[in-house]
Amino acid sequence: MAMLTSVVPRVEILSSSGIQSIPKEYVRPKEELTSIGNIFEEEKKNEGAQVPTIDLKEIDCGDNEVREKCREELIRAAKEWGVMHLVNHGISDDLIDRVKKAGEAFFNLSVEEKESYANDQASGKIQGYGSKLANNASGQLEWEDYFFHLIFPQDKRDLSIWPKTPNDYIEVTCEYARLLRGLATKILSVLSLGLGLEEERLEKEVGGLEELLLQMKINYYPKCPQPELALGVEAHTDVSALTFILHNMVPGLQLFKEGRWVTAKCVPNSIIMHVGDTVEILSNGKYKSILHRGLVNKEKVRISWAVFCEPPKEKIILKPLPEVVSESEPALFPPRTFSQHIQHKLFRKTQDIAAAQISK
Ligand SMILES: [Fe+2]
Repeated sequence: MAMLTSVVPRVEILSSSGIQSIPKEYVRPKEELTSIGNIFEEEKKNEGAQVPTIDLKEIDCGDNEVREKCREELIRAAKEWGVMHLVNHGISDDLIDRVKKAGEAFFNLSVEEKESYANDQASGKIQGYGSKLANNASGQLEWEDYFFHLIFPQDKRDLSIWPKTPNDYIEVTCEYARLLRGLATKILSVLSLGLGLEEERLEKEVGGLEELLLQMKINYYPKCPQPELALGVEAHTDVSALTFILHNMVPGLQLFKEGRWVTAKCVPNSIIMHVGDTVEILSNGKYKSILHRGLVNKEKVRISWAVFCEPPKEKIILKPLPEVVSESEPALFPPRTFSQHIQHKLFRKTQDIAAAQISK
């Protein structure tokens, strides 16, 4: 099985090989192709509802009214969209620039150099440099390579597998992780209050400082010669509690809202935040985990830095909190560990693909 790692196709190599048409594994099913447009054109469109921008400047303001207004906007966005651009989030532009420069510098290394950081999914070594393996009968692949590693808590991270180039990678990523962890606590406390719970509640339910895991995935989407046929990331909802995303100001993210794909604009100095399945389950669907996907393009490389804040895989049973369940609002989700939740989604997806193949 170890052989698998040496044959994983790197999308970056495909992209730079000069091919005019992409291998069939990257071509989306016919039904999906009709919804994939030119992302630069899509980004310009302004009709219909747009992803909300939430200004966190007053989230802890001493003035009750000002503070509550800020918090209510965050709560409303989490209920209506489950995704938003956060501005004035408290993490400096300078640090964010350094995080992005460090990730870009790593991906600017040659593929051979990056291969020395390759993960080995077959043997369970999931951290490191990687590309998607076809994990189902359709053999479908995505147009991206990535670097994946756990960045918080401190005692669970393995710095030995982190990029050594550039040499400030570890320092800036650790600092970003620390600040993002603080932001996650702040958001979870406001979302708790929005459910009428004590402010520490959601934080505790997802594992607290010791158990909530922050996993960073740097997504590298090379230029694609046929962007209208491929996806960088196929449609999914995040399994996390919360996800925080930075990007290099190249559009790509689309959200499925009220029956159509809405393109997220590039908002300077913002962090995109998703409510993931975990918080959706705990809130019994009051907060939404929105379906989303990533488009690619032929002009510019897109890079995004997603940090998934995830509960421990086995230790916690996720289910709607008793306080948000009632006779009129019964539990919408059965109790499952995080790991069971992931398995259940995979199982459903496999069934969907099998059904689609039978109906062909
Ligand atoms: Fe996602």
